[in-house]
Amino acid sequence: MRKLLSASLITASLTTVGLLPPAGAASATTLTSPATTLAAAAERSGRYFGVAVQGYKLSDPTYAGILDREFAVVTPENELKLDATEPVQGRFTFAPADRVVDHAVRLGKRVRGQTLLWHSAQPSWLASLRGAALRQAMLNHVTQVAAHYRGRIQAWDVVGEVFADGPTGARRDSNFQRTGDDWIEAAFRAARAADPGAKLCYNDYNIENWVHAKTQAVHRMVRDFRARGVPIDCVGLQSHFTANHPVPADFATTIRNFAALGVDVQLSELDIEGSGATQAENYRRAVTACLAVDRCTGITVWGVRDSDSWRASGTPLLFDPTGAPKPAYTAVLDSLNGGACR
Ligand code: XIL
Repeated sequence: MRKLLSASLITASLTTVGLLPPAGAASATTLTSPATTLAAAAERSGRYFGVAVQGYKLSDPTYAGILDREFAVVTPENELKLDATEPVQGRFTFAPADRVVDHAVRLGKRVRGQTLLWHSAQPSWLASLRGAALRQAMLNHVTQVAAHYRGRIQAWDVVGEVFADGPTGARRDSNFQRTGDDWIEAAFRAARAADPGAKLCYNDYNIENWVHAKTQAVHRMVRDFRARGVPIDCVGLQSHFTANHPVPADFATTIRNFAALGVDVQLSELDIEGSGATQAENYRRAVTACLAVDRCTGITVWGVRDSDSWRASGTPLLFDPTGAPKPAYTAVLDSLNGGACR
């Protein structure tokens, strides 16, 4: 993701050209006072703060108001998935995704696309294909969708969720997997060819805890891809946390170990079930883990208000259903600002 100028760098340059008095003088304080939105606070550390958006909610003024104010990067929550973009083989529908992408681009926001290939949200026509025909349809999908959005998508989750949960670190069974182990790298190559300017990411859940077999398996795959020149630029750790699957103590270690492979890392779908001070503290821990690693370049939360969440009953987001910021919001903003107001 694009690195933005830090506040201190801006201050230094303005001072050099005589637009600001030297550091310590009163009028410089506006540039160093805490940022008041998630996007602005994250940008000060060269990171982005993003959100998953559902296009049909853009007409809700509370929803759109929070989105427009707080977030710099947008991920269409479902509109870019296979069943949405290619409901009939070879017939592509981009209108629902375009609505989200156009809204973001109009407001100067960047877009993270997800997911070109996923075992879930598949249109029914795919189920009847096997072998070479399926492989060909799969790569055509990647090519057509990435080409359509060429230049408008900052980063694509090319492939998501290909490893099984549990102790083996094995691949998950899926129609794509049955076309051969190399389907993932073939997809990354097709995406690079279709949109050479987009960062290409692998995205998965339950890979936040470094000692888990699934985390190790994804790490091995990314290391292998990097060693063999498969075009992968980033890894998304979905980061869906609950009481039973908490923010791990070694979260920063996991992020650092992925980054050490030469890829950017993002918390790509962050949400944490809970409420009040406990939830706020868990959000603080997740954000702090990202801030601890230079190549952790951004965080996306998986929805705006609790009522927008895919698991609304767990109240896992930063705004309550009225659109008011929760303690978790304050904790995230404060962490991004450097944690001064603990
Ligand atoms: C979820 C959406 O939030 C829901 O609205 C939809 O019904 C199902 O998909 N991992 C992913 C996301 O990569 O695409 C999923 O999003 C959540 C889990």
